[in-house]
Amino acid sequence: MQKNKRTNKNVRNVNRRKDKIEMYDNEMKLEFLSKSSNEAFARITVAAFVSVLDPTIEELADIKTAVSEAVTNCIIHGYEDKEGIVKIRARIIKNNVEIEISDTGKGIENVELARKPLYTTKANLERSGMGFTIMESFMDEVEIDSVLGLGTKVTMRKKIKKHVVDDIEDEYANVGGVC
Ligand SMILES: Nc1ncnc2c1ncn2[C@@H]1O[C@H](COP(=O)(O)OP(=O)(O)O)[C@@H](O)[C@H]1O
Ligand SMILES: [Mg+2]
Repeated sequence: MQKNKRTNKNVRNVNRRKDKIEMYDNEMKLEFLSKSSNEAFARITVAAFVSVLDPTIEELADIKTAVSEAVTNCIIHGYEDKEGIVKIRARIIKNNVEIEISDTGKGIENVELARKPLYTTKANLERSGMGFTIMESFMDEVEIDSVLGLGTKVTMRKKIKKHVVDDIEDEYANVGGVC
C-alpha cells in the first residue's frame, strides 16, 4: 500500500516536471568552478545557446556582457577568496531568453542598495559598482534573489526581436559574433 502511494507521488512529480519542460522550447544547465578563467567560457556558452534565435550582433553582445557581469559577481563577491560552484540555467521560450545565474556564496545584505549605480563593497579591488546597472540596461528584466549566508540568484530576461536578414554578409557577421 505504502509502495503504491509512493509510486503515485513519483508519477505525479514526473508529470509535473514534464508539464514544466513543455513550457520551454529549449533549456540548458551549466555548472563550473568559480575561477575567473571560466567567465569567458560561460558567456560564450550562453551566446552559442541563444544564437538559434538569430539575434543581432548588438543583442548577442548585450547578453554576453550581462552574463559576464553576473558571473563575475558570483566569483568576486559571492565566493570571494573561496572556491564554489556557479550555476547557469538558460531557457528559450518562443523568442525570449531567460538566464538564471546563481551562487551559494555570501549573499547580498541590501539588494536595493546593491542595484544602485556606483554602489560597490569592493572599491579596493577597483570595482566600478556598475554591474547591476549594466545588466539592467542591456536586458529587459533583471530579478535579484539573495539570502545572506545562502547565496544569490540573478534572473535576466530579454526578447530577441525578429529581423529579416538583408544579405548573406549579415548572416556571416552573426555567426562570427558568438565568441
Ligand atoms: N553574487 C553576489 N554575491 C554577493 N554580493 C554580491 C553579488 N553580486 C553583487 N553583490 C553585491 O552588490 C554590489 C554591486 O554589484 P555590481 O553592481 O556588480 O558592482 P561591483 O561588482 O562593481 O561591486 C557588489 O559590490 C556586492 O556588494
Ligand atoms: Mg559587479
